[in-house]
Amino acid sequence: MCGIVGYVGRERSLEVLLGGLKRLEYRGYDSAGVAIIADDGQLHTAKRAGRLSVLTDELQRHPISNGRTGIGHTRWATHGGPTDHNAHPHLGDDGKLALIHNGIIENFSALKEELLAEGYTFTSETDSEAAAVLLGREYAATGDLVEAFRRVVTRLEGAFTLLALHQDQPDVVVGARRNSPLVIGLGDGENFLGSDVAAFVEYTKRAVAIGQDQIVTITPDAVTVTDFDGNVVEVDEFEIAWDASASEKGGWSSFMAKEISEEPDAVANTILGRVVDGKVVIPELDELGDEVLTDINRIVIIACGTAAYAGMVGSYAIEQWARVPVQVELSHEFRYRDPVLTPQTLVISISQSGETMDTLMAVKYAREAGARAISVCNTQGATIPRESDAAVYTHAGPEVAVASTKAFVAQITALYLFGLHLARVRGALDEAQLAANVAELTAIPEKLARVLESSESIAQLARWMSDTRAVLFLGRHVGYPIALEGALKLKELAYIHAEGFAAGELKHGPIALIEAGQPVFVVVPSPIGSPELHKKVVSNIQEIRARGARVIAIAEQGDAAVLPFADEVVPIPLAGPLFEPLLGVIPLQIFAMELAAAKGLDVDQPRNLAKSVTVE
Ligand code: G6P
Repeated sequence: MCGIVGYVGRERSLEVLLGGLKRLEYRGYDSAGVAIIADDGQLHTAKRAGRLSVLTDELQRHPISNGRTGIGHTRWATHGGPTDHNAHPHLGDDGKLALIHNGIIENFSALKEELLAEGYTFTSETDSEAAAVLLGREYAATGDLVEAFRRVVTRLEGAFTLLALHQDQPDVVVGARRNSPLVIGLGDGENFLGSDVAAFVEYTKRAVAIGQDQIVTITPDAVTVTDFDGNVVEVDEFEIAWDASASEKGGWSSFMAKEISEEPDAVANTILGRVVDGKVVIPELDELGDEVLTDINRIVIIACGTAAYAGMVGSYAIEQWARVPVQVELSHEFRYRDPVLTPQTLVISISQSGETMDTLMAVKYAREAGARAISVCNTQGATIPRESDAAVYTHAGPEVAVASTKAFVAQITALYLFGLHLARVRGALDEAQLAANVAELTAIPEKLARVLESSESIAQLARWMSDTRAVLFLGRHVGYPIALEGALKLKELAYIHAEGFAAGELKHGPIALIEAGQPVFVVVPSPIGSPELHKKVVSNIQEIRARGARVIAIAEQGDAAVLPFADEVVPIPLAGPLFEPLLGVIPLQIFAMELAAAKGLDVDQPRNLAKSVTVE
């Protein structure tokens, strides 16, 4: 939530800031703003409610002076509506200082009261402005931005990334973070700060992640990181693995369309280097040690949104293969219910961004309670992997569209690799069983490419159904989380009421929703791999069909039993029962995207959402 970019260097602040904000817009798009110290030595700001394009149009009409130092912000509103006044930057020290913020300052009311009592004034309803005014007061007292920051951070409660600049220190941007993300980009005669590396990947591949409770100062030629007490801390540089073009649309109508097309690669790249001579190897887990994996007696998977559904799919496979009980929980539910955690509990968090605050807090909580934590994450330098005992990265590449697609299949792939590794370490599967599952997994990218070939027929279906008011999704076993994910996608993108159900629950309630013409997507298990479940789901289809439902079946190619009862069949290639979700989810993603597009909606930036939810 909220994208942040900072820059010091050459005469091109504005281009760097607006380019960075464009790439960070997935984090929030309620308003945007920039502050620049121009060559006249003055601080210039521009900010506007609405998408970044509103700000850029405004800057075309009323240009501001460019300069060597600047900060920029794209907002997802928490305190105070999405208005021009509430947009960042906020000012302090009589307009000489500008500050941007990501996170929530929980004690802002008390701080504001204190400052109001001293005669300071406010122009917004945000929590962030309290930090700006406070920083202005401390700057006036110390004459030094870093020292002022140190004083301010000790007063703040909650989560924050703050960046600020002051016109009296024209070549400096200072930042601080607690529980919200901030990454440094190292340039040549210029340096960058960003909520993630997308902010500056166009200019440099060299990056440094900043730890919790640290303050960073960038000038054109130096970067200094200290803790909140001012002690210098050592930092580790890493190289950004993808280039700027990976986060461009590249001719596709939307980022989402591009990202769906990349799903075969997302799975293949996540497997790459982790299957050697037909065996799964996960070097990232070496440090954790096999004894931890043999010692655990329970796994808890925690995540939010789409990642939680990937976790549900993973739980079926891990439990079946490794014979360890696996429970899946939404991070925010887990964290606040006093769960039983022991050193034999392994917590696996799943997060595309690696910054979801609910998941981050749940990981910290679990580790403090003595559990071990592994992170499945798609973003280098993110906070959750840094707060975990080990990280298994998905290699889906940057995901920009707010609704997650390619990260979902990459997350399932990483969980499956982990499940097979765990099964080998614990001796739960023999070599032949392991090899058969590895072969299934490595065949998935090619099968995914075949599913994508039916994109146009799914798009046509979506266009026919663009007036639909409610859609139901049914699935069983691993098809159940796919039904949930199909419903989530339709809600997120097309703003249509959609519900996913376990097919076995149909007669316990959902069947009452069926009336003539009600569209129901059914994820049908394989007649070959899961004959028993297949029969039951085909019976469910008959039951709803008899009551007038319009059935759209996602079924294995050649599944003749479904044909007489389905209005539409979307075929998917044959795969083992546990591997079907990787294929079956694609038509549902495409359906939601195309239906949203047919309604004229923005599929990349659905209303009210943000890709990275960095507030609890
Ligand atoms: C938001 C996004 C979802 C995403 C969820 C978890 O709600 O809109 O697409 O699945 O956050 O995000 P994470 O980065 O933790 O996977």
